[in-house]
Amino acid sequence: HSKPLIFGIETSCDDTGCAIVDGRGNLLSESLHCQNLIHLRNGGIIPDVAQDLHRRYIELTVEDTLKKANLSMDDITALAVTLQPGLPLSLAVGMKYAKHLARKFNKPFIPIHHMEAHALVSRMQHNIPFPYLTLLISGGHCLLAIVQDINQFKLLGESLDSAPGEVFDKVSRRLKLRNVPEYSKMSGGQAIEASASKASDPHCFKLPLPLANYKDCNFSFNGLKTSTLLHLHRKEKEHNIEGDELIPEVSDLCAALLMAVTRHLVHRTQRAIEFCKQRKLIPETEGRLVVSGGVACNNFIFKNLTILCNEMEYDIFRPDPKLCTDNGVMIAWNGLEKWRGGVDIVTDLNSLDIKAV
Ligand code: KG4
Ligand code: ZN
Repeated sequence: HSKPLIFGIETSCDDTGCAIVDGRGNLLSESLHCQNLIHLRNGGIIPDVAQDLHRRYIELTVEDTLKKANLSMDDITALAVTLQPGLPLSLAVGMKYAKHLARKFNKPFIPIHHMEAHALVSRMQHNIPFPYLTLLISGGHCLLAIVQDINQFKLLGESLDSAPGEVFDKVSRRLKLRNVPEYSKMSGGQAIEASASKASDPHCFKLPLPLANYKDCNFSFNGLKTSTLLHLHRKEKEHNIEGDELIPEVSDLCAALLMAVTRHLVHRTQRAIEFCKQRKLIPETEGRLVVSGGVACNNFIFKNLTILCNEMEYDIFRPDPKLCTDNGVMIAWNGLEKWRGGVDIVTDLNSLDIKAV
């Protein structure tokens, strides 16, 4: 294998993920333990439960990753680990275990910012030079930023309240989509996308365009969540619905929400592209948009962003779906990019700490 060999560890939310990337950027192995099904049953992520599961699986996930690549920890050049942002209890498990490994095997430690890793992982699969615009949409975040270099990001805008994935997850729960067997094992966003694809009359539900009169690049999703839930209550009353039953118009309501979220995302991204053009922040002929984060898996959203980019003469990229959602590969890849650039390598393990948001 070509050196360096970077071992990535991700535990910021509800996925325990590890991966090894070599010096050419090849993925040698990966292992991912998702807690999704347990949190679905609990109706959301309980931090203590997430931490327990990370603790239970971290060693197994590390071992599994080494075994799949036929390597031992001695072969590894450096450890790359998510330290922020995320759930503090979850982050702590990855950091503590990585510190233990770094001490035991005398390895350098590369702290990783989870959102930067989301923003950079596309470079593992596509040739995307700096600078580029990125839209990161997940269960915890929604932001537009210019990626100027490996460790240089210019934030253009972010959500003023909740994240789109969070809204999908909450609405999906209230719509009781989990009671439909074919959606029972899906994330909220996936279930809403699947149900929306069966819509017959999505326009029968009216939803607003958030921040329509603002010219900045910020987002807001709480209004869409509230309006969707009001439509739901109205329909539940109309049909006298109780218990586990779904409203008959569930697919139309999912489609209306998905369309409204998409409209908002496209609207703000258009604003960001215009801003980059006006201020010449990205060279005229080299416009590129990279979309990532769990919500980027959504094909309806990506299709509409692609239409926008075609109109604005921007190229558009997104990583494979399994690299859009949380994973250890993006952490290892970010570690490699930092190693190559010689940035942020930590030798004093006592100086490390975790940051929540
Ligand atoms: O990036 P991610 O794995 O974790 C966070 O850092 O939040 O994103 C998870 C989020 C969840 O809210 C999930 O509902 C959403 O991504 N998601 C989707 C789709 N697949 C996952 N949202 C919309 N459409 C999808 N196909
Ligand atoms: Zn994420």
